[in-house]
Amino acid sequence: MKFETLSIHVGNATPERHRAVVQPITLSTTFAHGNEAGMVYTRANNPNRESLEKVLAALEKGEDAAAFSSGNAAGTAVYQALAPGSHIVAPDDMYHGLHNSMVQLFGGIHEVTFVDMSNLEAVRNAIQANTALFWIETPSNPLLKITDIQEIAALAKAQGAILACDNTFVSPVFQNPLQLGADLVMHSSTKYLGGHSDLLGGALVTKK
Ligand SMILES: Cc1ncc(COP(=O)(O)O)c(C=O)c1O
Repeated sequence: MKFETLSIHVGNATPERHRAVVQPITLSTTFAHGNEAGMVYTRANNPNRESLEKVLAALEKGEDAAAFSSGNAAGTAVYQALAPGSHIVAPDDMYHGLHNSMVQLFGGIHEVTFVDMSNLEAVRNAIQANTALFWIETPSNPLLKITDIQEIAALAKAQGAILACDNTFVSPVFQNPLQLGADLVMHSSTKYLGGHSDLLGGALVTKK
């Protein structure tokens, strides 16, 4: 299916009975036990969020996705999931909010080395025994530097580390990092995915 077709059909779960052409918004916080979709409580799952996650996973050619209330929340969730004492290799010009999150919120918990990700030798030299995450953002905000996803993926694989790519600036229209070896894709869907400057959102899409 073409990108445009996936965008409008994959997540549009319209109940047959009403023949609505657009999925209705489900406001219920709680769901009766034994429902077909296995929904329990809206923080854990909700039909609309599930649809959004489905379409994001399809557009990024991933297996699954998790939607967040912002790009910052999505990125921070990745750092939060690392074991304490992990080392992160991150871009020296990464998006400032996530840079601040790494340094200010996780500063005493994880170690971070900021490098020019377009310089593979510098990336190689930054690797430590406890490197657990390579964080890339390509093109980067604000300098629009380009990182070779496949090369960093090879380094991450050799290290047994995760490669996460902030794909906000190109969107899945132009780049699918999971197909180039990344394990995780992050989005600020506040930007091109939202498209109209009228929503705040974030997402993580996983290879498996
Ligand atoms: C590349 C990039 N990543 C992440 C974010 C953070 O996203 P949000 O503003 O949705 O929290 C932004 C926001 O400007 C961004 O430009």
